[in-house]
Amino acid sequence: MSSNKNNRKVLVIHGPNLNMLGTREPDTYGTLTLEEINQDLAVLGKKLGIEVKTFQSNHEGEIVEKVQKASQEYSGLIINPAAYTHTSIAIRDAILLLDFPVIEIHISNVYKRDEFRHKSMISDIVHGKITGFGAYGYQMALNAIAQMH
Ligand code: DQA
Repeated sequence: MSSNKNNRKVLVIHGPNLNMLGTREPDTYGTLTLEEINQDLAVLGKKLGIEVKTFQSNHEGEIVEKVQKASQEYSGLIINPAAYTHTSIAIRDAILLLDFPVIEIHISNVYKRDEFRHKSMISDIVHGKITGFGAYGYQMALNAIAQMH
C-alpha cells in the first residue's frame, strides 16, 4: 500500500439495498443491520490501527463520485456494489482510477444464485474477492487489507 498518504485509512462502500440489511431477505443476507456491520468494522479497525469510513448509496453516480474522490483520501477500498456489481461499467471505470488495493465483497455466495449474479464487472480489476461468508466477509476484507500495509 502506498506510504505517502493516509496510510491506514480504508473506505467501505455499500451499494443499493444494503441499507435494508437486517430485514432484507434474512435467509440470504443474515440479520445484522448495516449499522451493526459498520460498527463491527470500526471496532476491528481500531484493533488493526486502521481508520474505517463507511458509505452507502442506492445511486450509481454517487458511488462513482465517492470512488473518484477516494484516491486523495484513502489507501484501501472495500466495496460491495450490490446489484451494480453485475451492470456498472461506470463503477468499474472509477475503480480503475485507484492506485491502491480494492477488495470486492458479497455477503451471499453469488455463484450459488441466479446466473446473472455470476458476472461481475469488477472481479478482474480488483485485488481479490470475498463471497458467501455473510457479513463476516467485511471483516475478512479488512484483515486482508491490514496485511497489505
Ligand atoms: C450482493 C449480491 C448481489 O447480487 C445483490 O444484488 C446484492 C447483494 C451480496 O452482498 O451478496 O444486493 O452483492
